[in-house]
Amino acid sequence: MKIAILGHGTVGAGVTKLLSNPTKQPVNQLTVKSIWVRPEKVQLEARYTDDYQQILHDPEIEAVVEALGGEEPAATMIREALEHQKHVVTANNVVIALHLAEFQQLAQQQGVHLYFESSVGGGIPWIANLERVLRIDTVNEVQGIWNGTSNFILDEMTESGAPFDVVLSEAQRLGYAEADPSADIDGDDIENKLCISAALAYNADLRPGPQTLKVGIRNVTAADIHYFKQQQLLLKLMGKSVCQKGQVSLIIEPTLVPKTAAEASVRANQNQVRLHEATIGDLSLVGQGAGQLPTAHALVQDLLDIELAHGHQQQDLSSLLQVNQNLQTSDYV
Ligand code: HSE
Repeated sequence: MKIAILGHGTVGAGVTKLLSNPTKQPVNQLTVKSIWVRPEKVQLEARYTDDYQQILHDPEIEAVVEALGGEEPAATMIREALEHQKHVVTANNVVIALHLAEFQQLAQQQGVHLYFESSVGGGIPWIANLERVLRIDTVNEVQGIWNGTSNFILDEMTESGAPFDVVLSEAQRLGYAEADPSADIDGDDIENKLCISAALAYNADLRPGPQTLKVGIRNVTAADIHYFKQQQLLLKLMGKSVCQKGQVSLIIEPTLVPKTAAEASVRANQNQVRLHEATIGDLSLVGQGAGQLPTAHALVQDLLDIELAHGHQQQDLSSLLQVNQNLQTSDYV
C-alpha cells in the first residue's frame, strides 16, 4: 500500500524511520510515496511536496498519515483526505478530540478507515483493546496516567528534590516537553485523551470544554513533594471519567498514591491506561505513552490493520508460502 505522510517532524520522521528498514514482511508492503511539508522545506528531500491536491488526486496513494499536530491545518487535511476516499491514520489527539464524531461519520460514508490508536497512550494498544471490550460489554469508567511529560516531571521532582521549573527545563532538554509545555502540565493533553476514550467507551459525543474539572501540576512545589515523600506517597497527574445513569464526569487532578500502589511503578514518560468493565473487571495497560518510535509504532500498526482489512495481506501470505516452498526444495537437493 502506498501512503503519504503529512508533516515530517518527530512523529512523521518516526514513521519513515520504521518503514525504511522493515524486518517483517507485512511492513515491507508499506511505501511512503509523498511527504507533505511547508514550502520552505520542499527542496530537502525527493518525496517532499507542498502540493496537497497532488496527493489527494494520486490514485496510487491509498492512505494518509497525519503527523502535523494541532487542530489546523490537520482537521481540513483529514477531512479532504476522507472526502477523496483515502484512509487516514493520525497520532493527533487535539484534532480527534474535537472532530471524532464528524470524521467517523465521513469515513463511514466514504467507505474508508479512520484510525487513531497512537493519539491516546502513544505505543500502548489502548483504543484497539477498548473497542474489543466494547464488542461484548459496557464500559462505564476509564482512568489512568495519560501524560508522559507530567509523569516524568513529578517523578524527577521526587527523585532529585529539584523545583518544578528546573525539572521542566530538563524535560524540555530531553525532548519530552514542548517549548510551550502548557498542554502537558495544565492537563489539556490528558483532557483530549480522556474525551476520546470516554466518547468511544460510552458512545457519546464528548469534546474538551468547561465540563471537565481540570487541575494541572504547575503549582506543585519541591516542599510539597518532600512532604509527600516523607509520608511514603507519590504524586501522579491522573485523569478519570465515569458514566453513571447517562451522566459523564471528566476529572483531571494531581493525585496521591501510596509508594506500593501499581500507579507508583508507572515511571518517567510511561502511561497507564485502565478501564473497568463488568465481565472482565479491571484492565490496565502500561507502556511508552510518548516519544517518536512508540508513537510511530502505533501508526504503523494502524496502517497494517488497514492493509489487513483490504486484503493486501493475502499477497504477503502467498509470497511467504513461495519462500517456504523454495526452502523445502533446497533442503532436499
Ligand atoms: N506530550 C504527550 C505526553 C504525548 O507527554 O504524554 C502526546 O500526547
